[in-house]
Amino acid sequence: MKLCDIPTPALLVDRQAMERNIQLMAAFFRGRPCKLRPHFKAHKTPAIARRQLAAGSCTGITCATVSEAEVVATAGVSADILIANEVLGPGKAMRVAKLAAGGADIKVAVDSSTAASELAEAVRAAAVEIGVLVDVNVGLPRCGIAPGGPALELAGQVASTEGLRLRGVMGYEGHAVAITDREAREAAAGYSMEQLLATARMIREAGLSCDIVSAGGTGTYDITGRIEGITEIQAGSYVLMDTAYAKLDLPFERALSLLGTVLSRPGPTICVTDSGHKACTEDHGNPSVKGIEGAFVLLLSDEHATIMLPADSPIAPGDRIELWPSHIDPTINLHDALFVLDGDEVTDVWPIAARGYPEQRTLLS
Ligand SMILES: Cc1ncc(COP(=O)(O)O)c(C=O)c1O
Repeated sequence: MKLCDIPTPALLVDRQAMERNIQLMAAFFRGRPCKLRPHFKAHKTPAIARRQLAAGSCTGITCATVSEAEVVATAGVSADILIANEVLGPGKAMRVAKLAAGGADIKVAVDSSTAASELAEAVRAAAVEIGVLVDVNVGLPRCGIAPGGPALELAGQVASTEGLRLRGVMGYEGHAVAITDREAREAAAGYSMEQLLATARMIREAGLSCDIVSAGGTGTYDITGRIEGITEIQAGSYVLMDTAYAKLDLPFERALSLLGTVLSRPGPTICVTDSGHKACTEDHGNPSVKGIEGAFVLLLSDEHATIMLPADSPIAPGDRIELWPSHIDPTINLHDALFVLDGDEVTDVWPIAARGYPEQRTLLS
């Protein structure tokens, strides 16, 4: 199969750029006490996760959902899985227990005694044990218990709960990862990690175990990853990158583009492709146009991208245009497959196995 045979819209992976990103990240962590735990949510694709792990310097895989963990475990990608998110809701704790019963060394982030109790009940029923990281809020207005006393109290509850094994803490500094100014990013990440590390110290001083201190993302891998005491970094986007992260001073290349076909050239400075927002999210802004000087995306609608062109552009109906997504995670989640390219040759078509809500597909099958 060649590039020209791919039906559109379709996501393209530049294999060589992706491999360079994987090697660069692995090289950064080689020989350091801190390791990488690549975040699966960025691509939801076992074939990519396998390559990330094969490059070395990794502790295991990070997942955002139970479904992702199920895909990682059943595809045999890794047995060492951290669900870096709260697990609550019908059937979820049971599914985690099932993964543990199947041999996975599964660890779950917990920020409430409710979540801890649900997990404990399920693992006891399955006669297994799972690891727990206390999820500490380090500044991102999202999940996580307050650092210090509240986190210590929860750690104590977890440690004394049968079926749960306290392994450490996590704290995602998501409010810092996208700060474009390096000094400001370092300051924000540093402040967050002080809180996480102080909490880890309190937990240890209370005689509880805290071997894992997990944090970080693509924007802070070489900031948080250098801080003494942080044991692993949960970066995901680095492997394929997007235009939001490309604004930072990062060494990674954009390796994912969205291929579309020109449906119409309704005016001298405008064309319309079939790559609309059912194929590309705009939560981090419109995608950018690859390889056409001066062209930009005016708007995305359901099935259309309206692109402004220089008036002398020869683009005509039937031509193909690639866009750079602004946010890879939710964009990839809209597709079933990644088309992997070496030049014009499609070398692989990888299923995005954990896209959407796989548990709904299970219900339907
Ligand atoms: C819990 C958690 N860890 C790590 C990350 C890092 O991901 P990225 O590499 O895309 O910054 C994210 C991203 O949202 C996250 O939610």
